[in-house]
Amino acid sequence: MIVPKPVRLEARPGEFVLDHTTALAADPALASVAAWLRSELSQVTGGELAPGEPGPGTITIGLADLPAEAYRLTAGPDGVRIDGGGPAGAFYGAQTLRQLLPAWSYRKAPVGDRLSVPAVRIEDEPRFGWRGCLLDVARHFMTKADVLRFIDLMAVHKLNVLHLHLTDDQGWRIEIRRYPRLTEVGAWRRESQTGWDGAMDGRPHGGYYTQDDIREIVAYAGRRHIMVVPEIDLPGHTQAAIAAHPELGNLDTPLEVGTTWGIGVNVLNAEESTVEFFQNVLDEVLDLFPSPYICVGGDECRKDQWRASPAAQRRAAELGLDDAGELQSWFINRFEEYLTARGRRLMGWDEILEGRLAPETVIAPWRGDLGAVIAARAGHDVVTCSNVSVYLDYRQGPGADEPAPFGTVLTLEDVYAFEPIPAELAAEPAATRVIGAQCAVWTELIDSSRGVDYMAFPRLAAFAETVWSPPGRDLAGFRARLAAHLSRLDAIGVEYRRDTGPLPWQTRPGVPGRPEDPQEWQATLSRWTGNLREHR
Ligand code: ACM
Repeated sequence: MIVPKPVRLEARPGEFVLDHTTALAADPALASVAAWLRSELSQVTGGELAPGEPGPGTITIGLADLPAEAYRLTAGPDGVRIDGGGPAGAFYGAQTLRQLLPAWSYRKAPVGDRLSVPAVRIEDEPRFGWRGCLLDVARHFMTKADVLRFIDLMAVHKLNVLHLHLTDDQGWRIEIRRYPRLTEVGAWRRESQTGWDGAMDGRPHGGYYTQDDIREIVAYAGRRHIMVVPEIDLPGHTQAAIAAHPELGNLDTPLEVGTTWGIGVNVLNAEESTVEFFQNVLDEVLDLFPSPYICVGGDECRKDQWRASPAAQRRAAELGLDDAGELQSWFINRFEEYLTARGRRLMGWDEILEGRLAPETVIAPWRGDLGAVIAARAGHDVVTCSNVSVYLDYRQGPGADEPAPFGTVLTLEDVYAFEPIPAELAAEPAATRVIGAQCAVWTELIDSSRGVDYMAFPRLAAFAETVWSPPGRDLAGFRARLAAHLSRLDAIGVEYRRDTGPLPWQTRPGVPGRPEDPQEWQATLSRWTGNLREHR
């Protein structure tokens, strides 16, 4: 009943019973995996597991000649042995051991009567190297504690990339020492839009991470073998930065941090000083994030202001561009050069395919699969994240009791059916360019960690199987595994969406009511979907 489903699992007779006298023996190269497991187990055995030598009655973690993320786990009356190809593999083995314990053990309190692991032999390794989730902390800020908790939940599901969407029109969430106004001004907004009807909640919202917070998040994730990829979105989705530094924009009139959402008209101007500003921002970002990949967004950049601005047109002509609209690709190329010179790889949304790109650039195709096919054939590494398959902010059912929706209905079954390699690409050599996939938790309409729980789970568990487990789907099997897994999420305190019953969260006053009449409801849904087609 392990989620995501392991490659091979053979149940055996018997069990291993453990308590606080059980010893934990680990290869010195795996000290951090042992520390994590000791901390987890100590909280449920009521005492610290002692270090020990490999032998009967012991949990042993070692290394074996396997791929880095692969592991073997054997449990029997004599003990448990985990062998990882590297520290990441050993960590995934430890996560599997965690799931073999009773679900109540996830409460992190010695509340059960007996801790035992069923005898089993598991051989396991991930299908893809990039198993990600985007978390949008720009639209609604999440506290550092909430982000750390989310990282733990990703680790339970053996995901290994947290794409942290740090800046957008509605908020700038990372301290930049050189430009304190980015957070003094850019991290706060007057109020927030609550649905597609444009209603506003009338209350302020904000917050940001200090550089120490960021270091802590990156290190915490690293100990869980999760790489944090920052996103500093540009040249669109930059209204919060322009509100803090009007010299970055195209207008003479001041802007406020965005209170509504959609595809905003306010984009960066193309002055050299603006490029330098963002390079200075990225200098600090690169110091904080060791990830080889840095996302600069590049999505949903409206060109209206450039086309209306004599300065932008002059600049485009100076740069030899035929049209001011080409400034978007020019921006991306400038940052590609900048990142390449610093040994990093640019990642961007599929819109950046409009320009000429360096082959090392990684593409995140989100508008369906088309971008994935184009990018892979052009020789780019691709992380698929089609909105109609894995955008976890999209509502989970058509019911009127779902939270104010964003996008089309995307059920648990829809996510489970997601295939990271688009069908059109599957038979081509370019399919190997798909290095993995990531789901996305955008938060225009999710204003709390509880809301993230509701939208992300249990669909994130289904997503995890699509990137970890071998190809092919077994919905009945997944449902059975999920039933066991939901008990774990219950014990952790995850307020996931249940199939029935009232919502466990509904914190925001003024969420627009939904029509009771089914026909009116359908009409509202298609209007919202229409908006989506136009805007996202
Ligand atoms: C996106 O959803 N605009 C990447």
